[in-house]
Amino acid sequence: MNGSRGGLDSAQHPVQTRRMTTKRVLLIVSGGIAAYKSLELVRLLRKDGIAVRAVMTESAKEFVTPLSLGVLTEDHVYGNMFDLKEEREIGHIQLSREADLIVVSPATANIIAKMAGGIADDLATTILLATDKPVLAVPAMNVRMWEHVATRRNIAQLERDGIHIMDPDSGPMACGEYGEGRLPEPPAIAEKTKQLLANPNPADILAGQPDFAADMPLAGKHVLVTAGPTHEPIDPVRYIANRSSGKQGFAIAAAAAKAGARVTLVAGPVNLDTPPGVTRVDVLTAREMLAAVQGTLPADAAIMVAAVADWRAASEAGQKIKKDGSGAPAPLPLAENPDILATIAKSEKRPPLLIGFAAETENVVDHARAKLTRKGCDMIVANDVSGDVMGGSHNCVHLVTEAHTESWENLPKDEVANRLVERITARLE
Ligand code: C5P
Repeated sequence: MNGSRGGLDSAQHPVQTRRMTTKRVLLIVSGGIAAYKSLELVRLLRKDGIAVRAVMTESAKEFVTPLSLGVLTEDHVYGNMFDLKEEREIGHIQLSREADLIVVSPATANIIAKMAGGIADDLATTILLATDKPVLAVPAMNVRMWEHVATRRNIAQLERDGIHIMDPDSGPMACGEYGEGRLPEPPAIAEKTKQLLANPNPADILAGQPDFAADMPLAGKHVLVTAGPTHEPIDPVRYIANRSSGKQGFAIAAAAAKAGARVTLVAGPVNLDTPPGVTRVDVLTAREMLAAVQGTLPADAAIMVAAVADWRAASEAGQKIKKDGSGAPAPLPLAENPDILATIAKSEKRPPLLIGFAAETENVVDHARAKLTRKGCDMIVANDVSGDVMGGSHNCVHLVTEAHTESWENLPKDEVANRLVERITARLE
């Protein structure tokens, strides 16, 4: 998918989310037993200042009442395509366009199939076909239905269409069976909703509209980029870090978004604006970065530009560590951080194209070649950081693959990014 398939649950992945101005969500509730959880979802979104308008399918009304949703949204609840009063008050086209994001939760196997097929036979599905806004679908169904080949095919189609999908949870089901298909808990859905509202990606919308997307070389592709340093806390005021500015990774994310890809940028602590059209997930530590990356996969390509700290303090002190007066420094036992690139390379969700970066101060190409094998990736972009590359605006890189090495002249980081995205496009074709 889709950045969202991993379900960036804030409890699992402690990411920071930005504050935002009032945003509007159109919540489509379809008819599953999990429909009752939409009430809690509305409450959580409104608590964060997000305006919610609700649309219910006919079968959803068997599980929760329009009155309950209306009380919580403090708004009329829409449901009938042919109710003249409703249509006159606000037409279905307007409903589909006025929100910043459409959330379908729960999304039953039935509405997913209709979305995948472009069927518009009630108000909810007509809105979904008419919208020009990003859509998040949160499936919930019986495990057999979730695993059925028809649902697999429909989900894959929605992903290609640029719809964000949250992976369902596993566990006991209302029907007595056990497995994957449970609606994620409302706080996780609310968190995902806020992430999408903070960073809408125009390429998602374009992806569903072949006329616009056809010319964009990476349309329909999901590209994951990591960038920046990580900070590894020692105590409440100190941390281990490095000099990475994040500029090269951000430039690559921007170039991939411009090429039409849906881009998820997992960023360490940097002082940079999110490039237009990029979904950004902020993390602090290497372990958070690993969790965010795993939650974001699958992707068609991953470019791991982040300068991940190799070590962290073995334990984080709860209070500021004080000098003890002996003149000897306080001992600082270290633990090794997970290697994110190598972990992803070995995982089931390894992207078809996996690119690592290597900052070296000597024997740049030799070290990069060794790293290519050791980390199990398809390409290493090696850069000589003996000069002022870290934080600077230029970069001199060598592209090292199994077959050969190519060296580029010293270029602005934006240009390195554009050229690299051209290579990525060629390899994904
Ligand atoms: O081993 P080294 O840090 O030189 O490798 C650089 C590459 O490996 C980069 O792509 C970086 O993002 C990745 N890396 C990682 N996890 C680590 C260390 C590096 O993914 N713990």
